[in-house]
Amino acid sequence: MKTWQELLSLGGAYLDGKGVPDAAVAMELLMARLLKCGRGFLSPHLAKVPEERFVAALRRGMARLVAGEPIQYVLGEWDFRSLTLACDRRALIPRPETEELVTRVLAFAKTLDRARPFVVDVGTGSGCIVLSLAREMADGIFLGIDISADAIALATENAVRCGLSDKVRFAVTDGLDDFDEPETVDILVSNPPYIPTADCATLDPRIRNFEPMNALDGGREGLDFYDRLIEDALNVLRPGGGVFFEIGDGQGPALQKRLFNAGFDGIRIESDYAGHDRYASAVRP
Ligand SMILES: C[S@@+](CC[C@H](N)C(=O)[O-])C[C@H]1O[C@@H](n2cnc3c(N)ncnc32)[C@H](O)[C@@H]1O
Repeated sequence: MKTWQELLSLGGAYLDGKGVPDAAVAMELLMARLLKCGRGFLSPHLAKVPEERFVAALRRGMARLVAGEPIQYVLGEWDFRSLTLACDRRALIPRPETEELVTRVLAFAKTLDRARPFVVDVGTGSGCIVLSLAREMADGIFLGIDISADAIALATENAVRCGLSDKVRFAVTDGLDDFDEPETVDILVSNPPYIPTADCATLDPRIRNFEPMNALDGGREGLDFYDRLIEDALNVLRPGGGVFFEIGDGQGPALQKRLFNAGFDGIRIESDYAGHDRYASAVRP
C-alpha cells in the first residue's frame, strides 16, 4: 500500500524513464484531476493511502501518457484564459500562444464604437477563442464555425460547460462559404491550420498521432487558409472591421504581403514571447 507521495515519486520516475515530457508535472496533474483539486493543493493528501480505484485510474492515465497521448487529452480538460474547457481528440489542444491572440482581439474590440460587435471565429476547434471573447467582451454577437462536426460538438459542449451557450452560436461550415451577410462582421478571428503539408509528417508524434490533421495541415506552404480568409474578410468585414490571425513562425512576411495586396490598413505582424512571428492583424479600410 503506497501513499500518494510514494506514487507521485515512483510514477514520475517511471514516466520520465519512458520519455514522457515533464513527467513529474504530468503525475501531479493526473493526481490533482483524480482528487479534484488544483496541482498546488496536493500536499494535504500526500501522506494518505489512495483508494484502489484511484490507483487504477492513475495507472490508466499513465499508460495513455506512455503511449504518447498528450496530457491535455488524458486529463480531458484544459485551462484557456479564464475558462476550463473539455479537451479531447475531436479538436486541437488550446495553446498558450492563442491566449495572446485573444488579448489582441480584446484590445481592438475596445476601440470599436459599435454596440454589440459581431465576432466570427473561423476554425473554432474547442471554441477556446470565441468562448473567451464572449466571456471577456462587454457585449457582442459571437459565431464559431468549423468544418469538423466533431469540433463543433466539443465547442458546443464547452459553451454549455462555461455557461455561454446563450451568447455563442456554432455552425459546421467550410470556411465562410455559407456566410451570406456581407459587410456585417466587426471582428474576424482565426487560428487556422498553418503547418506546411510536408512538415506535418515530421511533427512530434504526440501531435501527429493524436491531434486532428485537419487542424494542422495548411497546404503546401501552410498559407492556403490565409489566402481564402483574406479574400473572405474583404467581403464579410464592415469598413473599419479587423481581421486577426494566428500564424506560423516565418510566415510574417507572406502575411504582410497578402494583407497589403488585398488593400488592408493598419497591418501588424507581431511575435510571441519566444520571438517567433505569431500574429497578423489588419483593418478593412
Ligand atoms: C489550428 S485549429 C484551431 C482550433 C482552435 N481555434 C484553437 O485555436 O485551438 C484549426 C481549426 O480549423 C478547422 N478547419 C480546417 N479546415 C477548415 C475549413 N475549411 N473550414 C472551417 N474550419 C476548418 C479545423 O477543424 C480546426 O478545428
